[in-house]
Amino acid sequence: MNKIRLLSDLLINQIAAGEVVQRPASVVKELLDNAIDAESKNIKIVIKDAGKQLIQVIDDGIGMGAVDARICFEKHATSKIAHTDDLFKIQTMGFRGEAMASIAAVAQVEMETRLHEAATGIYISIEGSKIKKEETIATAPGTKISVKNLFYNIPARRNFLKSNPVEFKHILEEVHHAALARTAIGWKLYHNDVEIYKLAPEKLSHRIVHLFGESYKKQLIPCKETTNIVTIEGYIGKPEYTKKTRGEQFLFVNQRFIKSPFLNHAIKNAYDRLLPADGFPFYTIYLTIDPQWIDINVHPTKTEIKFQDEKALYAILQATIKKSLATHHVVDSLDFEQDTNFSLLRFTHPIQINSPQAAKERTYTQFKAAPSLPSFVPPKDGKSLFEDPKDNSATPISAQTVGALPHQHGAGTAVQLYASYIIVQVQSGALLIDQQAAHERVLYDKFITHFQNKNGASQQLLMPEHLVVNPVDYMVLLENEAILRSLGFIIDPFGTSTIIIHGCPAELSHHTPKQLLEGLIEQLKWNNSKHKLEPAECCIRALAKKASIPHGTKLNGVEIDALLAQLFSSSNTMYTPDGRKICIMLSKDSLATLLT
Ligand SMILES: Nc1ncnc2c1ncn2[C@@H]1O[C@H](COP(=O)(O)OP(=O)(O)OP(=O)(O)O)[C@@H](O)[C@H]1O
Ligand SMILES: [Mg+2]
Repeated sequence: MNKIRLLSDLLINQIAAGEVVQRPASVVKELLDNAIDAESKNIKIVIKDAGKQLIQVIDDGIGMGAVDARICFEKHATSKIAHTDDLFKIQTMGFRGEAMASIAAVAQVEMETRLHEAATGIYISIEGSKIKKEETIATAPGTKISVKNLFYNIPARRNFLKSNPVEFKHILEEVHHAALARTAIGWKLYHNDVEIYKLAPEKLSHRIVHLFGESYKKQLIPCKETTNIVTIEGYIGKPEYTKKTRGEQFLFVNQRFIKSPFLNHAIKNAYDRLLPADGFPFYTIYLTIDPQWIDINVHPTKTEIKFQDEKALYAILQATIKKSLATHHVVDSLDFEQDTNFSLLRFTHPIQINSPQAAKERTYTQFKAAPSLPSFVPPKDGKSLFEDPKDNSATPISAQTVGALPHQHGAGTAVQLYASYIIVQVQSGALLIDQQAAHERVLYDKFITHFQNKNGASQQLLMPEHLVVNPVDYMVLLENEAILRSLGFIIDPFGTSTIIIHGCPAELSHHTPKQLLEGLIEQLKWNNSKHKLEPAECCIRALAKKASIPHGTKLNGVEIDALLAQLFSSSNTMYTPDGRKICIMLSKDSLATLLT
């Protein structure tokens, strides 16, 4: 008996959809690509329920006649290429002729379309690759496509979708790519009937500011270069505005957003020592290359490109960025020592670490280690003079083991070095402590307790503050709102990009609430991309890091004593939650060795 059979069209399309349509954002991308290819001047995007209920794209492009409208849902149906040679002359976003067929296989799709010169348009509804209804209608020129109930017929895929804030964040990223690639197009975006963006055709610098916020006005450096291989233009961010996450880095080739770790490396390298090790600069760079030198048919999502002479491109791109950085004299104005992310949170007032009261001290021993802490193996360096205390993972240094509670070592025996480190004499030697790492551990333990008990104390603001963030950051905050509340934040989302801050965790009253929340968002994104942590763990780590006293902060004797007391009562005196070293022990013996 024969075992081999030809697959049905629906199944073929569903298999193709597996590659093209992974989530609502992929549908948005494909529909926007089509609207762009249709030479639209204005594109409106309407989203409901993060695209799970509805993704609608309305364009004023060329539209389709009745036959094209029907055939566009067939697999391998495209108006954009005809011959093999065309693959190397691609000027359009689409060319594979599979997006509409894939979408129609996994959603309920309705389309209204009309050619400009036609008196009437056509309406088609299609479900599971089958046309359900088709009629002539009165409609505006252009095309309106509504994709409803994505993956309605593949429950496993639908269940796989993430929360609405996460899915909408992906949609926003696709809208950012399209709106940056095509600044001559007017864009509107609505989510659940709320207007997110209304962008008129505008120049690139204005588009960047409208998408990402006013603060970008100060940080853009233009770059431009023309060679016989490539034309480069766009904006890069000043090094002092680098972020901890890759988020806002956009590279376009022939107006198509692409991902290229290789070219990204060229850009990052051009910044050389201007960036902190974990810093990502902003950039929106457009390369224009003769299509015959590139191959975009590498991956179904068309976000990867093969270049014929990648190395030359790398060199030209790097030189262009270097030139822009040099021309704009950022090198001279830079403080190489400064950690740009932490600088956001320099204290406006001296740090106040409340000296523990005798009655309260007992509670310090109640801090529990976070259950989800990843195990961290400290680096071994047996020859080092400064040694980790023996068996530190099993028995971290405590007040008892070193005899270093404030009343035991006496106020003033600890000394601060460079406003960043504390050296304190203990029974078996001297401890050298990184003040920021120590404070981060102390705060982390506090926040864990607050979170577990849901009792984070808040400091109410006299006047609520308004923080305006870009929609992606807004989504990050919404995703974590419940956790932030349990830690003591009193915040209200307002509109599409404003957070009203009524109160902050009491421990952090020395920070300005806006700076704290902004820094927190950045840290959250970084933690998420780097460590893939549980949301609560991610928030608590981020908050502890952002709120910890930075290097360069002078502490008085009482503050030092308070910090030490809290550190020695913490769940882990040796390492920060993300595994950085807090202190090292200089034993009496090694001191003697040093001096003989
Ligand atoms: N908004 C639109 N306006 C006008 N024509 C459209 C629109 N959307 C789709 N079409 C037509 O339908 C055809 C099929 O679209 P589809 O997205 O499936 O394929 P493609 O864009 O050619 O290639 P790809 O699969 O790479 O996107 C397009 O080639 C185009 O002719
Ligand atoms: Mg397409």
